Amino acid sequence: MSSAYQAKTKRSKRLFERAQKVFAGGVNHNARFYEPYPIFVTRAQRQHIWDEDGKRYTDYWMGHLALILGHSPKVVTDALAVQIEKGTHFGMGSRLSVEFGEEIQRTVPCAEAMRLCNTGAEATMYLVRLARAFTGKRVVVKMTGGWHGYNTELNKGVNRPFDKTESAGILEEEQEHVRSVRFNDLAGAEAEVKRARRDVAAIFLEPVLGAGGCIPADKDYLKGLRELADREGTLLAFDEIITGFRLALGGAQEWYGVKPDLATFGKVAGGGLPLGLVAGRKEILSLADPSRKEGFVSIGGGTFSENPLTMTAGLATVRHLRRHRATLYPILENLGRTVREGVDRAFAEGGVEAHTTGLGSLFQTHFGANPRSAEDVAAEDRRRTKDYALFLMSAGVFVLPGHLGGVSSEHSFSDIRKLIGLSAKFSGSIKHS
Ligand SMILES: Cc1ncc(COP(=O)(O)O)c(C=O)c1O
Repeated sequence: MSSAYQAKTKRSKRLFERAQKVFAGGVNHNARFYEPYPIFVTRAQRQHIWDEDGKRYTDYWMGHLALILGHSPKVVTDALAVQIEKGTHFGMGSRLSVEFGEEIQRTVPCAEAMRLCNTGAEATMYLVRLARAFTGKRVVVKMTGGWHGYNTELNKGVNRPFDKTESAGILEEEQEHVRSVRFNDLAGAEAEVKRARRDVAAIFLEPVLGAGGCIPADKDYLKGLRELADREGTLLAFDEIITGFRLALGGAQEWYGVKPDLATFGKVAGGGLPLGLVAGRKEILSLADPSRKEGFVSIGGGTFSENPLTMTAGLATVRHLRRHRATLYPILENLGRTVREGVDRAFAEGGVEAHTTGLGSLFQTHFGANPRSAEDVAAEDRRRTKDYALFLMSAGVFVLPGHLGGVSSEHSFSDIRKLIGLSAKFSGSIKHS
């Protein structure tokens, strides 16, 4: 698979060699590196990206799943063109940020109050701080495979063997109070919470495990975690950085009908510009009010928080989603289901064991048994996953090897038929290899 990919991406290879001389490993996000080398993108429009060699791809990575309306949607770019003339960075609040906040408050069930920042990693860091300050407890129970950005404390238990820090340079003490439990295993979560002897500040999870394998939580599982949190006097917190404004306008909490105490958002809500957001119960967020005399929680944003470009792009996106929610979400769901069912059918007909997991517009194809946790995903045939991704890329379909994908409102059934057809072809190539 690698030779066909390399034959079509020669300029990306040359640029990667230059990138290696300036960036650690040639990339600026670990997920963007894959073997033999990643493509470099020159432009992006609707459901397409173009690489250095001029090759067009149907994109299912969609800017780390930030782009639910496709690349550069007109509703966003028109608004940005006007805002650029008025100013790109104020360093103070504006009507735009207030209106953006009100829009979030109106659509997200748990968002009684919020604070804006620039990345998801920052938002999850603030969430942990708020949860500990509010409860006076220390432990955070997260999921194995749960990815919450390059947040120091939560960079643990993400990849196999799941019981270690993800990075050299992080002190054991910094992660001492973070525990990982198996996703979709209520009894496991109960046992861990009990073991922590009423010292759990929050149970924190992605309602659809994202980087851990695109695995949706069972409805009863999330309801069970809500009850567990209430029973044990701990907070329930969702990382909705992938699911927010994607599964439904009000995110996974609306889709599942389970309201967390705190939640983080980013990606889609930023409309293609950098955003992090921590939202939740007013009494918890009020701890971050700087006029507060006692028990003040200092949680940022930062220099670029509520910058007018992100506010403009986010506001245009979230408003568009709200106005078109009745048609848009069923379309996304239908496209996503067609991918999941069609790809699985293509592999089943080829006699290859594969399962495409996901929910709504999200999907990821796994080679092996149908996974319910990151531990199951770790047992898969990784080589085949990588070969499949390179095969798709060589044929003009971009998926990031080993990562989940998503459709946007710009994808068509014809795009999906191509993906399914290529999956059938790949399945045939396995048989004959
Ligand atoms: C569930 C989840 N949380 C947090 C993050 C971190 O967000 P950011 O990359 O904006 O720091 C990500 C990013 O991929 C994510 O998928």
